[in-house]
Amino acid sequence: MADIPASIQFLHTTEIGLGAWAWGDRLVWDYGNSHTDEDLQLGFQTSLEHGIRLVDTAEIYGNGRSERLLGQFIKNTSTPVIVATKFFPLPWRIRPSAVLRALHNSLERLGLESLDLYQIHWPSPLIPIERYVEGLAAAHHQGLTKAVGVSNYDKNQMQRAITTLARHDIPLASNQVEYHLLNRSVEKNGLLARCQELGVRLIAYSPLAMGLLTGKYTPENPPPGMRGGKYGSVLKDLPQLIRLLTRIGQDQGGKTPAQVAINWCICKGSLPIPGAKNVHQAQENAGAVGWRLTEQQVNALDEASDRFSK
Ligand SMILES: NC(=O)c1ccc[n+]([C@@H]2O[C@H](COP(=O)([O-])OP(=O)(O)OC[C@H]3O[C@@H](n4cnc5c(N)ncnc54)[C@H](OP(=O)(O)O)[C@@H]3O)[C@@H](O)[C@H]2O)c1
Repeated sequence: MADIPASIQFLHTTEIGLGAWAWGDRLVWDYGNSHTDEDLQLGFQTSLEHGIRLVDTAEIYGNGRSERLLGQFIKNTSTPVIVATKFFPLPWRIRPSAVLRALHNSLERLGLESLDLYQIHWPSPLIPIERYVEGLAAAHHQGLTKAVGVSNYDKNQMQRAITTLARHDIPLASNQVEYHLLNRSVEKNGLLARCQELGVRLIAYSPLAMGLLTGKYTPENPPPGMRGGKYGSVLKDLPQLIRLLTRIGQDQGGKTPAQVAINWCICKGSLPIPGAKNVHQAQENAGAVGWRLTEQQVNALDEASDRFSK
């Protein structure tokens, strides 16, 4: 395991965050119907009260609305918030300076002068990795972000980012990727191990498999919209895994399947950022920390999840 530079220690001491994709997003998350600004504000406040400090957003979430809401919520609290947002590689963004321009716009929506973590949301199929990473380095040099990260980068792409940043003496703080009991590809392709070797924090997105690991979605009650398409094929086998999550939760003194699923991500050495649309979800997800699954329980979950895992 690498020595962690002081400037990015904060990510390694953070156990869990709060994801803000559903804040303002109608297409996937049905913002405006399933949850309102008030629900989100209360969920955010509840998360802070439970010691959650990191909030992950992106310029494209709700077309900027997620960042705007987060900015408003931050203004209404005296609790310090660790803010992470992301640059989206739109095809006309071809120069490093595009990263700085997008970052300035994000800061304006957030009402902040600088960020804690600025991430490239996806590698671009058109633009070399190095181009946007040079933009991240410039943002770091200008004091616009404390740390820089990437998202959805494979091992090779991550190495190219690390090499580019190393020329500027900047560590790569994080790689944010999909990781949960229904998708363990980062374990199987070695990305998680590589991150741990290099001191890059692996941030686990969709740690509840977009709500499936809570146990509330079944073949009879599939998740709405795009989630139904993405996860339709696993619903039949899901109840068995939910039964195991429930049993382990009971053995842990009354934890819920969602709490066990998030704790599993923590036990694997990743930083999960579950989304929460309201107070109830925020409260439940916050109860995923402060305790640990046993090694045997982690092994049992690994075994049960093997049938789903890519
Ligand atoms: N970098 C990337 O490309 C990328 C991609 C995806 C996500 N992310 C980040 O990761 C964060 C989390 O991922 P995600 O939002 O996709 O999925 P998730 O955290 O696995 O699931 C969140 C959804 O599950 C349901 N839920 C959450 N907690 C619950 C609880 N305790 N009880 C019942 N239902 C609950 C809610 O939806 P319903 O109530 O509608 O079921 C909620 O919106 C995002 O907000 C975003 O910040 C990043």
